[in-house]
Amino acid sequence: MCGIIGILGLSSASPRIVEALRRLEYRGYDSAGIATVLNGTLDRRRAVGKLEALEKELVTSPIKGKAGIGHTRWATHGEPVIENAHPHMTDHVALVHNGIIENFQSLKDDLLAKGVVFEGATDTEVVARLLTRHIEEGMAPKDAFKATLDKLEGAFALCVLISGEDDLMFGARRGSPLVAGIGKGENFLGSDALALAGLTNQLIYLEEGDWVVMSRDRVAVFDAAGSAVEREISLTHVTNALVSKGNHRHFMQKEIFEQPVVVSQTLGRYLDPIGTQVTLPKLPFDLKSVTKITLVACGTSYYAASVARYWIEKYARTPVEVDIASEFRYRDPIYAENGLCIFISQSGETADTLAALRHAKEAGQHTAAIVNVTESTMAREADIILPTYAGTEIGVASTKAFTCQLAVLAAFSVAMGVAKGLISSDTEKTLVKELEHLPAQMSTVLATEENIKAIAAEIADARDILFVGRGIHFPIAMEGALKLKEISYIHAEGYAAGELKHGPIALIDENVPVIGIAPSDGLLDKSVSNLQEIMARKGRVVLFSDHLKSLPQADLAGSFSMPSAGDLTSPILYALPVQLLAYYTALEKGTDVDQPRNLAKSVTVE
Ligand code: F6R
Repeated sequence: MCGIIGILGLSSASPRIVEALRRLEYRGYDSAGIATVLNGTLDRRRAVGKLEALEKELVTSPIKGKAGIGHTRWATHGEPVIENAHPHMTDHVALVHNGIIENFQSLKDDLLAKGVVFEGATDTEVVARLLTRHIEEGMAPKDAFKATLDKLEGAFALCVLISGEDDLMFGARRGSPLVAGIGKGENFLGSDALALAGLTNQLIYLEEGDWVVMSRDRVAVFDAAGSAVEREISLTHVTNALVSKGNHRHFMQKEIFEQPVVVSQTLGRYLDPIGTQVTLPKLPFDLKSVTKITLVACGTSYYAASVARYWIEKYARTPVEVDIASEFRYRDPIYAENGLCIFISQSGETADTLAALRHAKEAGQHTAAIVNVTESTMAREADIILPTYAGTEIGVASTKAFTCQLAVLAAFSVAMGVAKGLISSDTEKTLVKELEHLPAQMSTVLATEENIKAIAAEIADARDILFVGRGIHFPIAMEGALKLKEISYIHAEGYAAGELKHGPIALIDENVPVIGIAPSDGLLDKSVSNLQEIMARKGRVVLFSDHLKSLPQADLAGSFSMPSAGDLTSPILYALPVQLLAYYTALEKGTDVDQPRNLAKSVTVE
């Protein structure tokens, strides 16, 4: 997935495109590029790697023109090399793309057979060459664009410049998001509201299959059948205020330390001010009569869902199913009558989660989206939004969005228990107090971060690291492993502590650190037994617990002391040391913490 921007403006396009690409870099940073048209002539600059490489290129070789398109790439087809960087350009068109053209090979074979020469290996270049071919065959640009769209299969958002046309841009949206922005004497296209922040606040969120013919004074929208359609113009509140790192070395570090504040901010929206009740936004269905909850998400958000399963089952005694979004709709899920499906996503744009949401909606389920971006596609399509108030998360590895998701899910679980008549008002008050106490406890944990640095130094040379936990802390073990692997590139896995002896214990030797997440809940003794089994095989156990005495310190490779907490807040608290451990281990390794290799912040391809 990639970020795209198109500007038909009144001033030089290049600096504005670079600004927009900076806001879009969270979608990928394998390469970046820009193309403009000036007096009918197309021109282009591209650079492999992060946006700063393109910026340097533009200093030595500036590009002129008031009409331009830009792209930041997360490679799908073809390596991140210059030939595969967008925009793809021919004698007639320059084109940027976000998505995957599934039938690109057969289209390419047809074009190759006709003698068309390709420069790179991307699916996108096929679209550029196909469109060019239609123009060379004599079609008017608009007809050529439509004819091209009709041949494409897969998911895509496109933005296109045509040679000889300084006041024309095409856009198309199928499967991947695209927004048109209406300015004063100028118009824009972009992947999302953030791309267009600072350019305009009037947006048209294009619908599936829509395509656009744009000039400086008109945005004409057509549907998939080719009929002209009117789409609503909405006002966006997304601003272009660039978030700074403050005194922190990395965004991830800043975001880890923001958590007490943003979790408090989020809880503030779900707890009544006098601290006795949980409050949800008005629901378009009766929570009491919901028969089943289905939680669907990807990655870290999936681990938030996995924690919530324990809470909902405990407090609302309602069956819960948790699924990875990319698997969900392909296994013919069984929906319950009056079921509620909750989709959890920081970005609100993750393609798999969005597709699952649409699947559930079509099946007549109630749908809710827990999102951090309230103008995202999921937020617009779900029946109800339960927002997190984490603020913009820049670090690719999710931290504050995760704990805010957990805060919302904790409040939701209690609210559902209350709605079902299973939680008395006294118990509700106690649980609300527990939640209110959480931000202060989070600050206490973060204040002892120094102790994590020694553990990071201890494990940084390991090739493999295991995280183990039981019950509600098992998903935190998986989250710890994910965080570590994505930013330190050390192979890490999270296991249910009791499951180790059924296979993974074969991996244990003196080279394998094992992070044991073992709070003094009802499962402490069992967890300790599992950690003893690891130590008996020379595994280097690092203990995270509020009861460090449960294992002899001398036998441990490290330990981190945690405050005691109830089960509604404990997993949120234990998320902090696993995040810090990943962060400081990555520092030991010298990796790119905020933009780790191969990843992107928002995954808009399946
Ligand atoms: C890991 C991480 C990813 C995301 C996943 C889902 O640190 O950030 O695993 O959690 O890509 O993204 P959202 O929540 O935006 O749907």
